[in-house]
Amino acid sequence: MDSHCLPTVALITGANSGLGYAIACRLIVEFFTPRTDGYPAVASDSGTLVVCLATRSVEKAQSAIAGINTFLTSRLPEGARSRLELAHVTIDLSSPKSIIAAAAELRNKYRRIHYVFCNAAVVPFVRIDWAMAARQMATNFIEAMTVPRYKIQGVGWLTEIHSHGGHAAELPPELGAAFAANIFGHYYLLHEIMETLHAPAAAPETPSRIVWVGSIESDPLTFDIDDIQGTKSTQPYESSKTLTDILVLGSYLPEAQEYFRSYTTIPRPSESALPTDTIPPIFLIAHPGIVSTTIVAIPWWQTYAKNVGFWLCRAFGSPWHCIDPFVGANAPVWLALSPHVDLIKGKKWGSACLWGNGEMVLETQVDSDVAAHSAQLWSQMETLRKLWKTRLESQR
Ligand SMILES: NC(=O)c1ccc[n+]([C@@H]2O[C@H](COP(=O)([O-])OP(=O)(O)OC[C@H]3O[C@@H](n4cnc5c(N)ncnc54)[C@H](OP(=O)(O)O)[C@@H]3O)[C@@H](O)[C@H]2O)c1
Repeated sequence: MDSHCLPTVALITGANSGLGYAIACRLIVEFFTPRTDGYPAVASDSGTLVVCLATRSVEKAQSAIAGINTFLTSRLPEGARSRLELAHVTIDLSSPKSIIAAAAELRNKYRRIHYVFCNAAVVPFVRIDWAMAARQMATNFIEAMTVPRYKIQGVGWLTEIHSHGGHAAELPPELGAAFAANIFGHYYLLHEIMETLHAPAAAPETPSRIVWVGSIESDPLTFDIDDIQGTKSTQPYESSKTLTDILVLGSYLPEAQEYFRSYTTIPRPSESALPTDTIPPIFLIAHPGIVSTTIVAIPWWQTYAKNVGFWLCRAFGSPWHCIDPFVGANAPVWLALSPHVDLIKGKKWGSACLWGNGEMVLETQVDSDVAAHSAQLWSQMETLRKLWKTRLESQR
């Protein structure tokens, strides 16, 4: 099939809830609603969009698809529904076997994947430190509702394969739980489907866009380059999000090019029908501001109090309290669909909104020294990926 006739395919991890679900809804609405400024970059009157929801079970995907169909009832222009396909793939990003099976399914289903939203994530939450919460709220309420330091997390939590034991020599190397789900599972999956992420070099094709979902909570103080998995960290979630910043922004720096090239090389050129001259994907990063989701499992009354706090922050002028996940999906979807990708790559963007002023996408400062860490980080990620691959292949 001519590559111009191929559908536009988007893969969204963690698409059954919160931000991932909102990204699916917003992407569909914006894809089929072209504006005069060329946004979205790819929309055409006849183009088809396939949105593939990656979830941990078929039931979760089916329930999300039913919800999206209901949401779209009054939101799509006439004729658009017949050009939309909602598909799903089952994946547990902490499980090597699950990633390999999902990658094989995706390679079989799609010749080209145009957008991947690396959205799924976990917070290894244990409890709230109420004394610390009271102190931070009394000192700076908006900061306490934006970057909460009172979220106590599990230290040294590992993925299930290692918690359940097994012969170390046979298993892929152990992984920190947050690192595996938030970063490495995605990183490994992307390499396994790399042939679908390469675009033909001929115009008007543009590189596939990998939109990593970062966080406003990333903080260089939570990250140690000698512990990239964050297994010694008391803030493994924030460590994983800081790592995401460095991984994505470092992919543009000369220091990391050797590793980025090794990573984006197609693993099985002999089996692939792709032309030899292809363009690798690009990495982009966006965060949703602060949205109301269940990523931190707390009782209903705390969720209620948290949402009141979010609204107070919005009322006091915080631009980051988007609250509604659909508003939080603004920046990730904008990164995927913007016609101005050369202007927006290499920076971190966030969804924002102000009371009465509607939605915005704002560039977000990254405090990490990306240049200093990118080569070492990319080198460690590639070493770990290759070790995983060797171990997994030896198990077949
Ligand atoms: N909420 C916020 O204010 C906020 C702020 C900044 C950044 N973010 C980022 O936004 C993204 C989405 O978070 P959210 O707030 O929407 O939370 P959420 O509603 O809990 O969504 C997380 C999703 O990730 C999936 N997931 C978790 N572990 C997985 C694994 N091992 N394999 C496959 N899927 C897995 C979950 O699936 P299950 O349903 O099966 O558990 C769920 O669908 C995350 O990257 C988060 O860091 C959120």
